[in-house]
Amino acid sequence: MPKLTVEGVGEFEVPQGKRLVLALEDEAGVDQLHACGGNASCTTCRVEFLAGEPERMTVAEKDILASRGLTGVRLSCQIVCDHDMAVRAISRLAGSGRPNAGNRPADQIEPQPVEWTQK
Ligand code: FES
Repeated sequence: MPKLTVEGVGEFEVPQGKRLVLALEDEAGVDQLHACGGNASCTTCRVEFLAGEPERMTVAEKDILASRGLTGVRLSCQIVCDHDMAVRAISRLAGSGRPNAGNRPADQIEPQPVEWTQK
């Protein structure tokens, strides 16, 4: 099982292929935001990678990061835990002023069909 390290939180074993946004919530217990429910449209699921950043990226992630002018972050709803990785959780419910983190993302990456590209 891949290992997920969350800075300041700990190290966690994650089921192979689990969406990073769900691993942050379920395994790491982080109050990770995911306002759009994991559909690559809000960017509140953003994380900073400290190690193990995936080279591939969904086209949906690439497009919205570019349209928002975001660099140095990745969208946890568009990443699967298929290798060890370390992240900094920079977008959390605490202090956000939001009433909740957002609807729970589906188990599989959305939107479907998923297209992959290089980051
Ligand atoms: S972009 Fe909205 S949850 Fe990932």
